[in-house]
Amino acid sequence: MSTQLPQDITTQIDKFLAKFPDDQRQSAVISSLFVVQNNNGGWLSTELMDAVADYIGMPKIAVYEVASFYSLFDLEEVGKHKIYLCTNIACMLRGSKSIAQYLQSKLNIKFNETTADGKVTLKSAECLGACGGAPMLQLDDQYHENLTFERIDALLEELD
Ligand code: FES
Repeated sequence: MSTQLPQDITTQIDKFLAKFPDDQRQSAVISSLFVVQNNNGGWLSTELMDAVADYIGMPKIAVYEVASFYSLFDLEEVGKHKIYLCTNIACMLRGSKSIAQYLQSKLNIKFNETTADGKVTLKSAECLGACGGAPMLQLDDQYHENLTFERIDALLEELD
């Protein structure tokens, strides 16, 4: 039997669907997947992607393609918090490499890994559009710019 999305989720998806004509329901797929992911501990299972496909009325494979293309979606379990460190050119020129080494050593993980306590998943990201604040990272849905080792220490200490 296929997974059904709970009503509080479909209510949120319906708001996105209402923005598009009936024959363009697939235009709401990214927003829908984002809602579902946020309500599933930050990741999307195949069953949940299938449920989104069924609800929107688009082929499952097309939903998988979207979810696997965008780095904001995770298809495996993640930690309670996600850190996306930008490693693109502006951030690289302003020291993201040493920030990456520092973060990896502080968390004792590499990119695409989760800490043993399940608290943090570390990812690298392409340009997140905040080059003026390079080097920068995204922690959950917040940007943190002009990173230093001290700022990293403070961010990690503040995590619940
Ligand atoms: S290169 Fe890092 S935000 Fe643009």
